Amino acid sequence: MSEQVLNQQEVLLQQENAVAQGETLLKVENLCQYFKLGHSTLKAVNNVNFEVKKGEVFGLVGESGCGKTTTGRSIIKLYNCTSGNVYFGGKRICAGTGAYKETKKAAFNAMVEALKAKGDDKPDFKAEVAKYLAVAKEENAKIKSAKHDHNKCDKEYAKEHVAAVKAEYLPKLKAMDKKDPEYKALLFKYLKEYRLARKERLVTKIQMVFQDPIASLDPRMTVKEIIAEGLIIKGIRDKEVLEEKVYEVLEKVGLVKEHAGRYPHEFSGGQRQRIGVARSIIMKPELIIADEPVSALDVSIQAQVINLLNDLRHELGLTILFIAHDLSVVKYFSDRIAVMYFGNMVELTTSEELFKNPLHPYTKSLLSAIPLPDPIYEKKRERIVYNPLADHDYTVDKPSFREVAPGHFVSCNDAEFKKYQEILANK
Ligand SMILES: Nc1ncnc2c1ncn2[C@@H]1O[C@H](COP(=O)(O)OP(=O)(O)O)[C@@H](O)[C@H]1O
Ligand SMILES: [Mg+2]
Repeated sequence: MSEQVLNQQEVLLQQENAVAQGETLLKVENLCQYFKLGHSTLKAVNNVNFEVKKGEVFGLVGESGCGKTTTGRSIIKLYNCTSGNVYFGGKRICAGTGAYKETKKAAFNAMVEALKAKGDDKPDFKAEVAKYLAVAKEENAKIKSAKHDHNKCDKEYAKEHVAAVKAEYLPKLKAMDKKDPEYKALLFKYLKEYRLARKERLVTKIQMVFQDPIASLDPRMTVKEIIAEGLIIKGIRDKEVLEEKVYEVLEKVGLVKEHAGRYPHEFSGGQRQRIGVARSIIMKPELIIADEPVSALDVSIQAQVINLLNDLRHELGLTILFIAHDLSVVKYFSDRIAVMYFGNMVELTTSEELFKNPLHPYTKSLLSAIPLPDPIYEKKRERIVYNPLADHDYTVDKPSFREVAPGHFVSCNDAEFKKYQEILANK
């Protein structure tokens, strides 16, 4: 058996183990991304929570404009998130300060209100101020730590790499005689590794494949330049190494060496998306955020690109956050699926469970939109329309994201929680 096949088997085994053990690679916690539009605020992503396990394909589904892309972009730090945290491999890489500032403001307002009171219940000025100061101190510490993690996590990651390179080379160099002919070669190798380690960034372990394969590739750059760009930024200068790596990934995504010198407009939609995939895998990511990678493609080509991602997932041991606007695309490909509606997550469970026992009315509505190649069924198929005002009564009993059955989360209030549990129990 060749070494490559052996390696691949090892990767598969590791992947299966990781999924079985439920090792978390990405954890998104109370993520909020608000945009200021004049005097109003658009809550594009509002309190989203989910975890992606190592080796799994996690589908994120919802209609256009519900905040899927924004979630992806916040994770890779294209935006500074308003509040909430993102952990990658156990390290906090994004942290917003909005919620902490809100708590501080609320404590301040509470103090002002308390001090306004007159008459018998005259406030104890000192005690009220002390109460506010205690909250402010606690929240300020959280803000400081959030800012530190958000801005410095990459530098700290680089520092770790530098330390590892130093630990590997310095003792060897010290033990060698400087006149030794091999000393110079080792010194050069050390300096090169040191330079690269300093440019390491944790966030490059997450790569995004963008929705529009035409708009996301610079028309003035050749395929080679596009694919190699990330490595050049990382500090790799050796032209031969770059070329070799580009050819290697081109082959991996089903293109050939000869394509390297061409420009994006010379390719079909499917091929352009393959270039997008090549550009992300050359960075050796652990997680790929594929943002509707097949939405702009012909149906016949969609399957090819999905199969490519699936093959790469196994071959390279990738974890994939797969964003789509319809459930049919993610059905067979995803292990778990989360459904989003207007910036909120409404349901999250395994792919099988979601199709078998959808609970949230919006999920049911999405499922009813999937056409089947069966004329008799199609004649009878009724579209369920989701109407939040008619479907829920949230005037008093407010909803939250709860675990209705093991691993099956739904956004619901107390009454709905009971109803959903009964539905599942009677299945
Ligand atoms: N940079 C931005 N500034 C202001 N509003 C934005 C920005 N990006 C996205 N939005 C808005 O946020 C909402 C969610 O957008 P998006 O995440 O692109 O949705 P999806 O990818 O699910 O189609 C939309 O209403 C969109 O108009
Ligand atoms: Mg989008």
